[in-house]
Amino acid sequence: MSILFYLQASPRIGRSHSIAVADAFVKAYKENHPHDEIITRNLFRMHLPAFDGLAVSAKYSILHGKHHSEEELKAWEDVEAVINEFKSADKYVVAVPMWNFSIPYRLKQYIDLLVQPGYTFSYTAEEGYKGMITDKPILIVCARGGQYPPGGDAESIDFQTKYLHFILGFMGFNDIRTVLVEPTLEEGPEVARKKRENAIVGAVEMACTF
Ligand SMILES: Cc1cc2nc3c(=O)[nH]c(=O)nc-3n(C[C@H](O)[C@H](O)[C@H](O)COP(=O)(O)O)c2cc1C
Repeated sequence: MSILFYLQASPRIGRSHSIAVADAFVKAYKENHPHDEIITRNLFRMHLPAFDGLAVSAKYSILHGKHHSEEELKAWEDVEAVINEFKSADKYVVAVPMWNFSIPYRLKQYIDLLVQPGYTFSYTAEEGYKGMITDKPILIVCARGGQYPPGGDAESIDFQTKYLHFILGFMGFNDIRTVLVEPTLEEGPEVARKKRENAIVGAVEMACTF
């Protein structure tokens, strides 16, 4: 039995294009893997610990080989809980809206919690940085109001897929699959509906081999 971790980064729930496509993927995945466990989290509905001064000083205490103060220890336990839940999964699907050419701030906060030395990446002078989450597939479903086609002028301002590919790769992910839903705004609701249907077909197909 495997665990599929389904992370939603849109607060729009029932109106979200990325969630609609990811939901279709998860439904098809369940049909193909009836015994697997699905953990679903929406980043706008779950508690996320702040990555504030205390959490940063806890992180630096680890980096500098110092003991945590009592306060730091408490803050760090909350960070560890987020990381441990994420790492407990075998496969991942993430529904991500484009916000201001990048990702919503709650997903960035989640990533800031996850990306920690000794937990999701390591560093040695000999080998440099090495991701620690390896051989686990991840699907990112990226919705965007506009269009950012490869080779076009707008490609260079797509910091959503570019950043996600980089940071997931930094944590070790080497099987990153992508489904795009675009444009969800630029060409009106009818085009958005068709694009979403096409994306659902692609995502459902993907679920069979995930
Ligand atoms: C705060 C905010 C910022 C946005 N910024 C962009 C943007 O930079 N580029 C873009 O193409 N669409 C942008 N959009 C539109 C969303 O990408 C679009 O509505 C998408 O469908 C959102 O994903 P969702 O439907 O899963 O919530 C923005 C929407 C919001 C709410």
